[in-house]
Amino acid sequence: MSASTYESVSAASKDMYARARAVLPGGNSRTAVFSSPYPIYAASGSGSRVVDLDGTSRIDFLNNSTTLVHGHAHPEIVAAVSEAAARGTCFGLPTESEVLFAEALCSRNDSFEQARFTSSGTEAVMMAVQASRAHTGKAKIAKIAGAYHGAYDSVAVNNDGSGSLLSHSHTAGMPAEVIANTVVIPFNEPEEAVKILREHVAELACVLVDPVPWRIGLAPMSTEYIAALRAFCDETGVLLVSDEVGSFRIGYGGAMGALGGVADLTVMGKVIGGGMPIGAVAGKAEVMSVFDPSKGKPKLPHSGSYNANPVSMSAGVASLRLLTQEQMKRIGELGEQVRDTMTKTIEANDLDWQVNGLESLFRVLTGTVPGSGASSAQLGHLLFQALLENGVLIGDSGLGCVSTPMIQADIDEFGAAFDSAVTATIDRARAQG
Ligand SMILES: Cc1ncc(COP(=O)(O)O)c(C=O)c1O
Repeated sequence: MSASTYESVSAASKDMYARARAVLPGGNSRTAVFSSPYPIYAASGSGSRVVDLDGTSRIDFLNNSTTLVHGHAHPEIVAAVSEAAARGTCFGLPTESEVLFAEALCSRNDSFEQARFTSSGTEAVMMAVQASRAHTGKAKIAKIAGAYHGAYDSVAVNNDGSGSLLSHSHTAGMPAEVIANTVVIPFNEPEEAVKILREHVAELACVLVDPVPWRIGLAPMSTEYIAALRAFCDETGVLLVSDEVGSFRIGYGGAMGALGGVADLTVMGKVIGGGMPIGAVAGKAEVMSVFDPSKGKPKLPHSGSYNANPVSMSAGVASLRLLTQEQMKRIGELGEQVRDTMTKTIEANDLDWQVNGLESLFRVLTGTVPGSGASSAQLGHLLFQALLENGVLIGDSGLGCVSTPMIQADIDEFGAAFDSAVTATIDRARAQG
């Protein structure tokens, strides 16, 4: 895309970004929402639509990186948030809302005997890792090469989507001992993964997995892989921790259950909070007892001024109530349609691109364009911008999802926009050489 085309649809965002740069580093508080040359600023959202500062309305398939499973400003969630806020946003006392939300969450999966809340997925991953260490008395964790689990040091290791098995970090200044304590295993290679895990078993607290890891392509863990990790954990007492911050929406009781596995601890975020800041860990009462302060100092003291705040808890109760089996099936079918329509366009254009995902999640992996030297990431960015011009928002990693307010017309609109955007992407990639 030429810069002028992008600028022609985003003049107000350009001005806002100039202001932002003066007071925020690079104009930004969240790396993921930066987009070169400047991001489009949101003004409001309603249902399946987001409106930017220039007043342009688009179908939102990004949904805040797959958080907003009920779209923007769902009336029942707005009511729950408003009512909770009117009663007081946070207290130095527990509230009933925390109990209600834990009951709602635990009723969805037999392995969720107890739950505990934070204000983000990052904190929830941190809590699960610390709980695993407290429970086992061991320091190391294992994670899948390239997979993303948020900003906590121990998991910000080998999280760049690459298949490399090296323990490395892109976070400048990361202590070497943190990196050394994070073991990296290959994705969907059961024998090799278990071989590596066995080498570290004496020091290993947990195996942290995302059953549908988006950063390495959004393909699900295979049945064999899940079974091999479960068997290793059963044999050794190492905990299997399923990070479903992004993938919980794959099944009514989460992704691991939908894929036929059982985790010891499950980390959640995003969809369970209805758009409010949220994180949760649920699992076996025996493991969760590391937090129990009722019998003296717990093994793992864990606080947070906003943990289980009633606004997030109430939004969460409403979000889970709305996330019925029927709705999940419906958005899963629409997701299938989205993947099919993209695949057809890609095939019609003879491209080597790939579409992954399942249920309501999708990711398009831009490969190459014959006659252009553009990298996959550059093509992803061109596609993202061309989709914006055509009235659709997805992530510039190609990540997207269907939300419950979406209807068939949204999916049809997406199909037409994707078709035009792919043509524009090919033309622009070739024009750039
Ligand atoms: C798998 C996974 N884990 C953890 C996180 C971190 O969650 P949060 O952004 O709420 O801190 C994310 C966020 O995208 C995620 O996808």
